[in-house]
Amino acid sequence: MSLLTQAPKGTQDLLPRQTAEWQEAERVMRREAALRGFGEIRTPVFEHTELFQRSVGETTDVVQKEMYTFLDKGGRSITLRPEGTAGVVRAMLEHAAYNEGLPQKFYYFTSCYRYEKPQAGRLREFHQFGVEMFGAAEPSADAQVILLGKSIFDSLGVKNLSLELNSIGCPECRAKYTKALKEYFQGRENELCETCQSRLERNPMRILDCKSPVCSKIAEGAPRMLDYLCDECREHFEGVKRYLDASGVAYRVNPSIVRGLDYYTRTVFEFVSNDLGAQSTVLGGGRYDGLVEEMGGKPTAGLGFALGLERLMMILKAQGIEMPAPQACKVFVAALDDAAKVCAVQMVNALHTCSIPADYDSCGRSLKAQMKYADKIGAEFTVVVGGDELEAGQVMFKNMATREQETVKIGKPFDQEVFLADAMAVLAKTEGIHF
Ligand code: HAM
Repeated sequence: MSLLTQAPKGTQDLLPRQTAEWQEAERVMRREAALRGFGEIRTPVFEHTELFQRSVGETTDVVQKEMYTFLDKGGRSITLRPEGTAGVVRAMLEHAAYNEGLPQKFYYFTSCYRYEKPQAGRLREFHQFGVEMFGAAEPSADAQVILLGKSIFDSLGVKNLSLELNSIGCPECRAKYTKALKEYFQGRENELCETCQSRLERNPMRILDCKSPVCSKIAEGAPRMLDYLCDECREHFEGVKRYLDASGVAYRVNPSIVRGLDYYTRTVFEFVSNDLGAQSTVLGGGRYDGLVEEMGGKPTAGLGFALGLERLMMILKAQGIEMPAPQACKVFVAALDDAAKVCAVQMVNALHTCSIPADYDSCGRSLKAQMKYADKIGAEFTVVVGGDELEAGQVMFKNMATREQETVKIGKPFDQEVFLADAMAVLAKTEGIHF
């Protein structure tokens, strides 16, 4: 197929029927975030490559294999953001947002770019809704962020999600754990898949979430991070569970949740669905208490999550959850000739001033074809204007569901005030319109 008529591999277009559903889901996310004091942040789609190397981590698959990195015309190494957290931390530091009182709470909608092998639920350009919270070290903050994610799913009517929870400790206790993990796997190094063999030195915790049946079988007997947590980390994790219990949030402690990005400390969590196939995580997040300092700021606690919008839409579809489609057209005005077309345009413009979705034919169709089009776009009312209507200074509003007709004055010549007074009275009688 021609490159001119096919989107690049791993990307997809969203047409109005789909964007209407996305907007509805996004509306819920904005509302739930705003309720909890999160404000929207927008950061650039590209950043300096070093930002992701430093934050996401040199040893991660994202940085090693998946980034869209290029030199710009000034010779700088630039990367399309593979995720949202790094840019938000950078912006928070650049604008010294921490001076405006803590905690600072942000939410965002971003497109992200990862050069991965595309499959269902895995794209090269995908979209996230994410939140980041800075300056809140308490376990109640972890619960707040998790609850925000859950409230979005609940509001949308999503069912059968499992919240998987783990703690991966702080650098001190994790160092002890990593040592124990290496020792465990070293005995069986040759049985591990090639990727995990290379992970053994760099990042042995990632072996725990390898999908290969052999690696996961070996990983079953591996030491668990939870048994290595230091007192502070254990207390924090117990606190998170206590707040979740008190908020009535069900979760499953899953020691194999390690997340694929290097910045995490302590709490990590994922919302997982059976409706997604292999890419089963719809939302992932956790704490990153060392990241702000790593990026040059003062030690500042941080935590957040990102929810994949494409994966969410897949779940909604699989569960038969329909989003209300916006009404494209309430009133369609058909015109019989050029003079009537001018009046049709005036009527439609007038209706728009009252926020009534209205349309007319701009393709030069016959009356029959105009009515067929009105039906296709689901117009609730149709109006036909011709010489007789202009002469009489009135038109008929036909309710397409009941077939009832009502007279609406338009003035002679057309008078917007006269028309709107009558038209709005007729429209007000139908359900769902509130003025
Ligand atoms: P992540 O787990 O890499 O975390 O991505 C979060 C979500 O983005 C995933 O659960 C998934 O729904 C979606 N996602 C990831 N990769 C793809 C892909 N290739 N195609 C489609 N959807 C995808 C992060 O990005 C962290 N920044 C989350 C975070 C925020 N942690 C703390 N704050």
